[in-house]
Amino acid sequence: MGVLEGSVALVTGAGGGIGAATVAALLAEGAEVIATDLRAPSAGTLTCAHDVTSEADWARIAGEIEARWGRLDCLVNNAAIATISAIEENSLADWRRQMTVNVDSLLLSLQATLPLLRASGKVRAGGASVVNLSSTGGLAGAAFMSAYCTSKGAVTLFTKSAAIEFGVLGYNIRVNAMHPGGIGTAMLDEIFDAYVRLGVATDKDVVIQGMNKSHPIGRLGKPEEIAAGIVHLCSTASSFMTGSSMVVDGGYTAQ
Ligand SMILES: NC(=O)c1ccc[n+]([C@@H]2O[C@H](COP(=O)([O-])OP(=O)(O)OC[C@H]3O[C@@H](n4cnc5c(N)ncnc54)[C@H](O)[C@@H]3O)[C@@H](O)[C@H]2O)c1
Repeated sequence: MGVLEGSVALVTGAGGGIGAATVAALLAEGAEVIATDLRAPSAGTLTCAHDVTSEADWARIAGEIEARWGRLDCLVNNAAIATISAIEENSLADWRRQMTVNVDSLLLSLQATLPLLRASGKVRAGGASVVNLSSTGGLAGAAFMSAYCTSKGAVTLFTKSAAIEFGVLGYNIRVNAMHPGGIGTAMLDEIFDAYVRLGVATDKDVVIQGMNKSHPIGRLGKPEEIAAGIVHLCSTASSFMTGSSMVVDGGYTAQ
């Protein structure tokens, strides 16, 4: 029997690298998974098109979960974009888009799903569990990623604030942040391309070698290695964790 048997989970950005691996891991542990992305993903108990910046989309998704399950046990706020730019060249429009997708979406997410999470908190051992995808960038910062790192720093403190507030309110909802290091997905591939475009490195192999070196384990991570941490945060095995930052980064140190 899986550790999430009988649990109902929602994963956003579920068509991407870490999102798809998370859906697979949650399903393998017995959860029923609502998988959403800009285009409906291919795997999940229920798959939906869902723009996380849209209040109307959140209301629709929450309505579907309410009608079918009446509660939400695990919420994984994973969808995000990464803007790569020198500070001098970052347009205000791009900066705002970065914050809208990565930060505003968390407010919309919790506002839409709170009644469902509270319903879970009343009955679920270990409480309902929210996992917000931050990044090592949300703890340490990085060159040419000021917008992204600022957004992930906001995710980190929104997570802690929500954990404290839900504790004060007695909701029995835990809220934790996951901080991956460099993980081999489309997002990281685009970041590598951008580094070459910006002239930070001569070619992509140089970027990849540098990234491997900055992870003492000697390689980039795999989406499944992040999904395994998310499963732990979603399960009752992490029942004493809230407001926490789980760092899964191969020992990453900025070079
Ligand atoms: N890959 C890494 O190295 C890395 C490192 C640290 C943190 N992260 C974080 O992990 C999470 C997943 O990243 P990934 O590497 O799997 O990226 P990815 O690009 O493979 O997946 C991101 C997904 O988010 C979706 N998305 C983007 N905007 C959206 C919107 N407005 N509404 C709904 N969905 C939207 C995309 O369609 C995509 O499927 C992100 O929060 C990212 O910031 C990734």
